[in-house]
Amino acid sequence: MKNSQIKMVGLEMTKFNQGHKIKWEEPEKLTLEWGDRQAKAIWDEMFSRFELEWEGKSVLDFGCMWGYFCRFLLEEQKVRESVGIDILPKWEDLSDEWNYQGVENLELFAGDILDIKEIQGRKFDIITTAGTIFLLSPTYLEGVLNWMYDHLAPGGSLVLQTRTFFSYNGGDLHNITSIPFPQVIFSRPVIEKFIPGRERILNPMSATAFLMLFRRTGFEIINFRKGSGINEAEHIDMFRQKTWYYTERDLKTGDIFVHLKKPKLERDLSELRD
Ligand SMILES: C[S@@+](CC[C@H](N)C(=O)[O-])C[C@H]1O[C@@H](n2cnc3c(N)ncnc32)[C@H](O)[C@@H]1O
Repeated sequence: MKNSQIKMVGLEMTKFNQGHKIKWEEPEKLTLEWGDRQAKAIWDEMFSRFELEWEGKSVLDFGCMWGYFCRFLLEEQKVRESVGIDILPKWEDLSDEWNYQGVENLELFAGDILDIKEIQGRKFDIITTAGTIFLLSPTYLEGVLNWMYDHLAPGGSLVLQTRTFFSYNGGDLHNITSIPFPQVIFSRPVIEKFIPGRERILNPMSATAFLMLFRRTGFEIINFRKGSGINEAEHIDMFRQKTWYYTERDLKTGDIFVHLKKPKLERDLSELRD
């Protein structure tokens, strides 16, 4: 698929993906060795920590890159079926060693999750997503979360990790400027002036905003863990004048790890009328 064929979804996806593609052309990220290491790290550091039964479950991974985590779940966690979705078919960029069509119970689909025909009529027990939803605009993300809610079986789980706006690498500018957290201090037009042609886009949501959106979709929040954000005292002091209007809890939350559940029973709407 060419970038020009990719539908605009939320955050100027076409432009974003061109920027992103350059990054993913880092050759080691398109090797089986790198993918195996990454899948194990995703499991050890994120998903193994949630209290969930994986064996025999049907799982969808959103933002699956070339599908390494989907394969890990099949082989190591004995899930029944593993479906991966990515806006770009990165599995096609991999060497011939990765014969994903030959892996039983694995399916990879490229495109917009809201449109991919093969998955619209299906329900999953678990949906996973790591390092991806911060790349979507809040409006598009709301649509994706609603889709996930509707495509989970009752009692099913959405387990996820995302950076927040207060991540140390929230704007991916940490390699370009030594000023900490420039995305929080400077407006987008200023940053674009500083780095002409910059195409990387970041969802400007804090941990609280993400949690509100999850609740608004209808999910119960079963478990929430945070990783560090603007936590060094010197940064807080240095920028307090410019960031006093954020809560310290949000400033200090750069990553979130969340277990969400679709309730088994539909909520009784009569509660709203009382
Ligand atoms: C930073 S990578 C994370 C990959 C993998 N989940 C991991 O944790 O290693 C983000 C992935 O999300 C994909 N992505 C970005 N926008 C997307 C969208 N709207 N729908 C599906 N995938 C998307 C990108 O193409 C990329 O493969």
